[in-house]
Amino acid sequence: MLFDTIRDGMDYKRLAGGKWLNGKEYLEIVSPVDGSLCGRVPMMEDADIHAAVESCAAAQKQWQKVPLAQRGDILLRCADLLEEHQEELADMLVREIAKDISSSRAEVQRTAELIRATVQFAKTMTGETLQGGAMGRESTAKTAIVSRVPLGVILAVSPFNYPINLAMSKIVPALVMGNAVVFKPPSQGAVVSLCMVQCLQAAGLPDGLLGTITGAGKRVGQQLLREPSIHMINFTGSTQVGQIIAKGAGMIPLVMELGGKDAAVVLADADLDHAVSQIISGAFGYSGQRCTAIKRVLVLEQVADEFVSKLKEKMKEITVGNPYDGCMVTPLIHEAAADFVMELVEDAQSRGADIFTTGQRRGNLLYPICADHVTEEMRLAWEEPFGPILPVLRVKSAEEAVRIANKSEYGLQASVFGNNIREVFDVVEQVEAGTVNINGKSERSPDHFPFLGIKQSGIGVQGIRYALEASSTVKSVVLNKI
Ligand code: G3H
Repeated sequence: MLFDTIRDGMDYKRLAGGKWLNGKEYLEIVSPVDGSLCGRVPMMEDADIHAAVESCAAAQKQWQKVPLAQRGDILLRCADLLEEHQEELADMLVREIAKDISSSRAEVQRTAELIRATVQFAKTMTGETLQGGAMGRESTAKTAIVSRVPLGVILAVSPFNYPINLAMSKIVPALVMGNAVVFKPPSQGAVVSLCMVQCLQAAGLPDGLLGTITGAGKRVGQQLLREPSIHMINFTGSTQVGQIIAKGAGMIPLVMELGGKDAAVVLADADLDHAVSQIISGAFGYSGQRCTAIKRVLVLEQVADEFVSKLKEKMKEITVGNPYDGCMVTPLIHEAAADFVMELVEDAQSRGADIFTTGQRRGNLLYPICADHVTEEMRLAWEEPFGPILPVLRVKSAEEAVRIANKSEYGLQASVFGNNIREVFDVVEQVEAGTVNINGKSERSPDHFPFLGIKQSGIGVQGIRYALEASSTVKSVVLNKI
């Protein structure tokens, strides 16, 4: 069995220098579904981290000389292995992060497709030549040959909500462009992430090129920021942690996908049935634990009653419970996450919001919640709950919707629902977000579209071609005709 070689019983190993090594101490990973043990992962010490990074740095020197097609072939084999082990990996996702079974299978499949498309795009990347003389007085005898070269060692840090997909969307562009990767998976999601890494190893990745870093995030994170051989960081996670990384990273390139408070603006002439169905899926899919989840609705007051009534009816259809049964809303990642959502609900309720829910909380399982009549004084208008809750703010005009949308510290995505193209584009042009979706929910896919956040939502651009560019830099060679 592919994954048996990376564990002793429930103790999973760490990958460094091409070898799977035991830990000295272990971190327990417990299922949010039923509290059972998913596995234990090594709590790495500073010296282990340093050695793993240095192995990557040494291996990268050879890897960058391997032809791109050969680098790509290894990654394509990994895509096949992910598909072969789809059921096993999906089952681990369900257990470790409580993602429903069909979304878990889809995450594995999406990742195999992402790998294939990334390799294909990488093969089409070209450089350019520039001829001197365009600036005025300089010599025409100069020619610049501009090509893309790897950065060196890239630190990839992935979040709990997509342990496979958001890890591979960083690792694969980095590897195919000739970099080595130090990979820090989320603690919750570490077990399935290590199995995913084994797919890369089994596909034939050279020894040392990929190292895993496990242990408590804060502790290992501090050491990683001290490592001199890390040349770029690609991080997805909270804005709070992103800010710590940005302060500690020094002068290396960063790509960060951070928090969001994506607004859905519903204009007066919107198709309300369509808007409700998109907003339900955008807000409550994977229990709202997505950076791109719709996290507030700004609805024109003349259609607000009708919108909210349709929304509540549709919310009653949302399946809630066990991820193995394919429910849309499943237990949150831990109890504290559910406590935080309820703290925001209590604040809103005490300030006059109307709270509607389809059921009662059971531990870390929250039923979908709609908070209507949310106002700017309430925490729910601004804070990111990362749970199954949708605040509705009623606005007098599209201008007010834009003002409130832009008052947020975040700028990941937004949606505008409406049919008058001029009014829709007035909003689109003014909303501060990396992506604005017209008549659709906010989401990252398809994976070759640019994906970015502005303001406190991120730095840099992801999406296949953009990730390949971000994982490399330009090198210019200047030819002088003498
Ligand atoms: O949680 C952040 C992810 O990038 C969201 O991805 O829109 O595919 O769910 P998604």
